[in-house]
Amino acid sequence: MEHIHPIFDKILSRSEKEELLKQKSVVVWLTGLSGSGKSTIAQRLERELHGKGFLVKLLDGDNIRTGLGNNLGFSVEDRRENIRRIAETARLFLDTGVICLCSFVSPTLEIRQMAKEIIGEGEFHEVFVNAPIAVCEERDVKGLYKKARAGIIKDFTGIDSPYEAPQNPFMEIKTDQESLEDSTQKLLEALLPIVKRS
Ligand code: ADX
Repeated sequence: MEHIHPIFDKILSRSEKEELLKQKSVVVWLTGLSGSGKSTIAQRLERELHGKGFLVKLLDGDNIRTGLGNNLGFSVEDRRENIRRIAETARLFLDTGVICLCSFVSPTLEIRQMAKEIIGEGEFHEVFVNAPIAVCEERDVKGLYKKARAGIIKDFTGIDSPYEAPQNPFMEIKTDQESLEDSTQKLLEALLPIVKRS
C-alpha cells in the first residue's frame, strides 16, 4: 500500500451529492435464508422509493455472483470475500449519495459485523427477513433445497451450513405472517424519515 496516494480530500463530498439528489443516502442490508423473501421485498422497496423520487441501487446475491463475485463459491472464506466486496461496493454508492439496498444471505454474525464495519455503524440498517426453514424449503422457488437435501449442492445455508439470526436488527419481517404489501410499507415508513432531506 506504500505507493498508494488516496485523494479523498480532493473529491466532491457525499453531502454535495446528497444535495444534488435531494436525498440522504443509507444502506439497507436484508439478510435471511434463501427463499425467505429478501429480494422480493428489496425489489418492491426499490420501486416504491424510486416512485417517490429517490435514487436507489439494489445489489442482489444472484446478480452479484454472476459478476463481481463470479470466482466465489459458498465456503466460509468465499462468503466472507463475497460480502466484503459487496460492502465495499455499497459504501461507494453511499458515498455517491445513492440509497443502496443489499439483499444477501450473509449468514453469520461475523460476516455482517464485517459489512457493518466497512459501511459504517450508523449507515448500516439491518433487516432480518425471517421465514422458518420449513417454509423456505416448502417454497423452494429455485429448486435448490431439493438439490441440497439430495446432496447435489453442498454447504447450503440452513441445511449443511449455518444461519445465525441478527440479534438486534433495525427491523424484522416475518414473511410467513406478513404480506409483501404490509412489510414493504412498514420498511418504507421506517426509512422515509432517514432518506428525506429536510
Ligand atoms: S452469501 O452467503 O454469500 O451471502 P449470496 O446471498 O451471495 O450468499 O447468494 C445466495 C444465493 O445463491 C441464494 O439465494 C441461492 O439462490 C444461491 N445459492 C447457491 N448455492 C448456495 C448455498 N450453498 N448456500 C446458499 N445459497 C446458495
